[in-house]
Amino acid sequence: MCGIFAISGERETAGNIVLKGLKKLEYRGYDSWGIAIRDAGKISIEKQIGKISGVKKDFGKSTESMGHTRWATHGGVTNENAHPHKFGKITLVHNGIFENFLEVKKEIGAEKFKSETDTEVIAALLDELLETGLEPDEAIREAAKKIVGRFAILVMVEGIPGLFAARRGSPLILGRGKTETFIASDIPAFLEYTNTVNYLDDNEMVYISGGTAIFSNLKTGDPITKRDITVNWKIEEAEKGEFEHFMIKEIFDQKDTIARAINHDDELLKKAVKLLQESNGAYFIACGTAHKVTSAAEYFFAEISGRKINVVPAGEMPSFEKFVNEETALIAISQSGETADVLEILERGKKVGAKILAITNVETSSVARIADVHLPIQAGVEKAVASTKAATAQMALCFLLAYADAENIRPGSINRGREILRSTASSINDLLNPRYAEYVEAIAEKIVDRRNMFIIGRGALYPMALESAIKIQEVSYIHAQGFAAGELKHGPIALIEKRVPCLVLGDDSETISNAMELKARGARIIGIAPTRADVFDEWLRVPDCNGAQAIASIIPVQLLAYHLAILKGLDPDMPRNLAKSVTVK
Ligand code: G6P
Repeated sequence: MCGIFAISGERETAGNIVLKGLKKLEYRGYDSWGIAIRDAGKISIEKQIGKISGVKKDFGKSTESMGHTRWATHGGVTNENAHPHKFGKITLVHNGIFENFLEVKKEIGAEKFKSETDTEVIAALLDELLETGLEPDEAIREAAKKIVGRFAILVMVEGIPGLFAARRGSPLILGRGKTETFIASDIPAFLEYTNTVNYLDDNEMVYISGGTAIFSNLKTGDPITKRDITVNWKIEEAEKGEFEHFMIKEIFDQKDTIARAINHDDELLKKAVKLLQESNGAYFIACGTAHKVTSAAEYFFAEISGRKINVVPAGEMPSFEKFVNEETALIAISQSGETADVLEILERGKKVGAKILAITNVETSSVARIADVHLPIQAGVEKAVASTKAATAQMALCFLLAYADAENIRPGSINRGREILRSTASSINDLLNPRYAEYVEAIAEKIVDRRNMFIIGRGALYPMALESAIKIQEVSYIHAQGFAAGELKHGPIALIEKRVPCLVLGDDSETISNAMELKARGARIIGIAPTRADVFDEWLRVPDCNGAQAIASIIPVQLLAYHLAILKGLDPDMPRNLAKSVTVK
């Protein structure tokens, strides 16, 4: 949610480097963008609404620059609301939400502001604090005391070279060069220049100038020493390569990612399930697609190890937090590991002594770092807003964990779980070929003019029906709704009209009966199953996965959603109104 990127160094083209890096962070927000450069002491700002991807501009000479791609929260998509914001001597970009900004805005004088944003108020607050004679780092510390909410900020101060950054809740990572330092919301922004990084933690700040970075505690000002970390991310992983879009590349990445997700030694898996087995009450906490994964995982655990785990979307968890205590296990699933709703529950859970098991795709993310046990899914960078390879990798790992949980009752379970998943991974590898994608595209052509779609499934395929709806909605903007197969006749069937496409996940006899009820009312049935049933008008074959069906069944739907978006002339990587990493509540 909002991409931030800056460089301070000896290169003379800082503005152009920031422009290039921001394009790699655009998945975090793409309503508008802005870049500030400092050349010979003078700060100038360029900002525009719209996507940054197509922007070709030469920012000329500058040794320092910072920029931002926005996902609007406070105020509409306008040039004035785009970052950076300038107030007095301060130029600032911000990711997060300043919850009490209206109060502070009133204190400063609402008439002094040009934008509707909370960010401009931070700039004004800092400027006011500088006016009282404080040094910039002191002013940032004072401002942080006043700000309620989460933030990552980068600050340029007129007359003072270098950049200041501070973090509470939203990610910031430093890339370290010899004579230059980068700072960004995510590593791909600077990966082509360096893979040596320092993570800024919550309540920390840093001053960067050239190759120097001085870290300190945001509350006390005490100096902090950071360890250099080498990340093994590959540049190609964060690029589209031969593919037209990240979404299709990431769908095809699933040829490898499922096998990689389960590549953990038994000891780590046992440690993870021990945390569950020692708990008295467990909750899966996640948002969006990851939440649908947790709903599938609920079935895996119930069926494989006989464990009941509560599933709550992170944003709904406050109603149930009274049940969280030192005996509770919180299992967080998050691709980015930075989703604010998830983090907040974990932070409060940790305070009451709950144990945290995290499954993320970013080993160094906030969710991973707060966890007692962390299992990385190792899916590689996922850039398309619609989550695909992360979801199937998360499911595979949860499936294996359920088997690991059953090891006590049925020795040899972990091996059995691995076997099933290996065979699933290899069948998915076979399935994902250009011919299959073309076949899915042909089905997409037949239904692209439809305004509604329905999807049904049973057992773990029910959450996949819900996830299918998310995939179709978010990239093709076709209204899609998922239902538990048996629930359809209790109301939603009233919506079925002639030719409405219905995806039927599964070929068990009860689901097929439900498909027949739909067909009897004129629906066009697209079956996604290992065998072809007579009721299917179209059939998308998926392998028989021995209990892991949910993992394979979502893949044709991902392809279908992608092709629907393409046929409608939409950009599947950057759907309207969405962002990849939601770091606000
Ligand atoms: C956003 C994304 C979704 C994602 C959700 C949770 O809404 O658009 O694709 O599933 O956040 O993200 P996380 O990083 O926690 O898995």
